Amino acid sequence: WLATDFQQKVIHYYRQHGRKHLPWQGTKDPYRIWLSEIMLQQTQVTTVIPYYENFLQRFPTIIDLAEATSDEVMHLWSGLGYYSRARNLHQAAKMVVEEFNGHFPQNPAEIETLPGVGRSTAGAIAAFAFDEPSAILDGNVKRVLARCYGIDGWAGKSSVLKALWLRAEENTPKKDTAQYNQAMMDLGAVVCTRTKPKCNQCPLSEQCYALQHDQVAQLPGKKPK
Ligand code: ADE
Ligand code: SF4
Repeated sequence: WLATDFQQKVIHYYRQHGRKHLPWQGTKDPYRIWLSEIMLQQTQVTTVIPYYENFLQRFPTIIDLAEATSDEVMHLWSGLGYYSRARNLHQAAKMVVEEFNGHFPQNPAEIETLPGVGRSTAGAIAAFAFDEPSAILDGNVKRVLARCYGIDGWAGKSSVLKALWLRAEENTPKKDTAQYNQAMMDLGAVVCTRTKPKCNQCPLSEQCYALQHDQVAQLPGKKPK
């Protein structure tokens, strides 16, 4: 197996600059990884951390979460926003206990059957917890790929989304997938930011379509009005 140039650059970036000490990175427990990914879907890392610690202190395992009352789950979530995430989380915990005998499913297709878990979140959980070679495509990764490959148009449009997933899938390495996925998230969050990306610190600058064609401010395309 030989890594492509793109994969090598991304993994090298992770080894040099990637985030390695976030609270959910010291574990392979799929419950903890799932919880972090759900909290991080619409909320920033610094806001998530205290909620994450608190939640795990009260519910150390998915069984504890499944057995809780919804009032208590909602109470521990309160302040994080997007409350359907908490309702789905509680439902999913019960589903893991009842339908998967308390064992968190391992492959992305099964993980995606849990309420609140879409294709990208399923890919992230499978890669981080089980070293599956699964691709991710969250908002940050969409921005990196749209710029790097010059994929124009709004990502809410199915043809655009399809083009982004194609690039995400073809670039995701079969090995070191967790490091690669974390690196893509970090690149989008820290380097290839929505405004004023730090292209001079980016490992992809040599091959980036947007940078070469002076399209950084135009990509990714916005929702049509
Ligand atoms: N956003 C979504 N998943 C994340 C992760 N694992 N680390 C940092 N930010 C994230
Ligand atoms: Fe984003 Fe700039 Fe890197 Fe291109 S070179 S991927 S625009 S940070």
